[in-house]
Amino acid sequence: MANATLEALRIRMQFQIDASKTRDERNRMGQFATPPGLAAGILRRTPALICKKKGIMFMDPAVGTGSFYSALLETFPKHGISRAVGYEIDTHCGALADDLWGDAGLEVRVGDFTRAEPPAEDGDRFDLIICNPPYVRHHHIPSDKKRHLAARTLGSCGADIGGRAGLYCYFIGMSHAWMRHGAVAGWLIPSEFMDVVYGAPLRRYLTDTVTLLHIHRFDPNHCQFNDTRVSSAIVWFSKQKPMPGHAARFTYGRSLESPSQDGMIPLDVLRTSPKWTRYPAMKPHATRHYKGGVLGDFFRIKRGLATGGNGYFIMPEDEVERRGLPREGFRPVLPGPRHLAGGVVQADGSGNPVLERRLLLLDCRLPEDELARRHPLLHEYIEKGRKDGVAAGYLCRNRLPWYSQENRPPAPILCTYMGKNKARPFRFILNESQATATNAYLMLYPVGKMAAAMADPEIRESVWRLLNGIRPQTMIGEGRVYGGGLHKVEPGELCNVPAGGISGLLSG
Ligand SMILES: C[S@@+](CC[C@H](N)C(=O)[O-])C[C@H]1O[C@@H](n2cnc3c(N)ncnc32)[C@H](O)[C@@H]1O
Repeated sequence: MANATLEALRIRMQFQIDASKTRDERNRMGQFATPPGLAAGILRRTPALICKKKGIMFMDPAVGTGSFYSALLETFPKHGISRAVGYEIDTHCGALADDLWGDAGLEVRVGDFTRAEPPAEDGDRFDLIICNPPYVRHHHIPSDKKRHLAARTLGSCGADIGGRAGLYCYFIGMSHAWMRHGAVAGWLIPSEFMDVVYGAPLRRYLTDTVTLLHIHRFDPNHCQFNDTRVSSAIVWFSKQKPMPGHAARFTYGRSLESPSQDGMIPLDVLRTSPKWTRYPAMKPHATRHYKGGVLGDFFRIKRGLATGGNGYFIMPEDEVERRGLPREGFRPVLPGPRHLAGGVVQADGSGNPVLERRLLLLDCRLPEDELARRHPLLHEYIEKGRKDGVAAGYLCRNRLPWYSQENRPPAPILCTYMGKNKARPFRFILNESQATATNAYLMLYPVGKMAAAMADPEIRESVWRLLNGIRPQTMIGEGRVYGGGLHKVEPGELCNVPAGGISGLLSG
C-alpha cells in the first residue's frame, strides 16, 4: 500500500483508539498522539540537522501508531533509511503500528522502553531519534518505578532527574544510551521544563552533555494538540560535547516553519539562566545585575493564605451576623482579584476594607472546650465543618486548631499572579486596609528601608504605581507559562523581577 493510504488509515485508527479511552486512562499512559501536520513539520526540519544522508538508523521510543515513522517515509528516500525501530507499551497501539508499518520497514517492539536494554556497541545504536514521549505527570508514577527510572537515567547520561519530573524527562535521558556518537534527537515535549525547578537536570544535560541545536517553543495560545492543553516545545540536539562558545537557536511562534522570533543564545547564557522561555525575546547580553535591584531586595514575598476550603472558612460579613457568630473569631479578607478592578482598597476608621463585597475569614485560636463555653454558635459551626469533612482535609488536619489560619498579616501590596491576558497578565493592588488575602494573591511585605518609607501614604502610592509600570514582558520573563497561555509568577520568581525606579524612592 502507498504511504499516503497507510497514513490515512492510521489517522482513522488513531481517532478510534483515542475515542475508546477515558481522559484519565490517556493521562496515565501519556497517550496524546502528534497531529499529522506537526509530525511532518518536525521531520522536515531534520535533514538540515543530521549530517548522515544515507543508511540512517531511526528510533521512536514511544511510537504509538507511528506518526513519526510515517512522516519519516515522506521526508527521507526509502533507501536513506537502513533500519527503524519503535517501542510501544500499549499492545493494541503496538499491534496496529506493526500491521500498518511492519511491511514498510518499521520493527515494532511491544513493551516498556524504560526496561529495554540499549545496544552495547556504538555501531548498533541509532542515528536519529524523533519522539513525542509520554508526558505522564510525576504523581501518576509510583515511587518504586521513579527510583528505577532515576537510576537508569543516571546510568545512561549522568542526569539526576528529581522525583517531581514527568516521565518524558526520563525518556530523554535514557535514550542517550541508544544514540550513536553524533546522532541527532528531536523531542516534542511540554515547554514547562524550560522554567521549572524539576527541569533543571534536563536543562543541564542539554547545555553540558550534548550539543543543543535548536528549541522551538510554540505560542502557548495556540495549543498544538486538540485533546490536551499543554504548551509544547521541540528540542533538537546531537550527541556530542558542545564546542566552547556554542550558541543554540531559539525560535518562538505559532509555526515551526515561520517563527515570529528567532535568535541564537550562547550556552554560557543558558547555563546561568533558570528561565529559558524568556529567549529569544530577551537578548542574551541583557545583564542579570539590574542597577535598581530586584523586588526581592525591597519586599518579602509570600503566597496568600491557603485556607483548606474557602467555601467553609470565608463568608460575607452579613452572613456572620445572620448566623450570630462572634466577630472576634473572624478577620477581614479581600475578595478575589476580579472584585478589585480599581486596584486600590481603601479602609474605614477600623481598618476594614471599603468594598461592596466585604468578606470575613474564620481564624480562631481558642481550644474547642473554651469555644463551646464562650461561643456555642461558632462551636456548632466548627462541628459542622468536622461533619462535612473540612477538618480532615490535608491543610486543616496539619493546623492546630484546624479552624485557625497560618500567620499572614495584611500586606500593603498584593500581586495577582495568574493571568491569560498577555498584554497585562499580572496586577499590583494597593491595600490600605487591615484585610489579609488568600492564595489568589502574592503578598508583598516591605522590608528594611522600604518598610520605613512605606509608612508614608504618598510613598505607598508611588510604589504601587511604579510596580504597575513594570513592563508585562519583564514579569512574564521571570514567570512561567502553561498550556492555553496561562501566565503565572511564583513568589521566588517575583523576587527576581527588576525593581525599576523603586530604589529612587528611598534616596535622600
Ligand atoms: C504522547 S504518545 C505519542 C505517540 C506517537 N509517537 C505520536 O507521536 O503520535 C506516547 C506513546 O508512548 C506510549 N508509552 C507510554 N509509556 C511507554 C513506555 N514505558 N514504553 C513505551 N511506550 C510507552 C503510549 O502508549 C503512547 O502511545
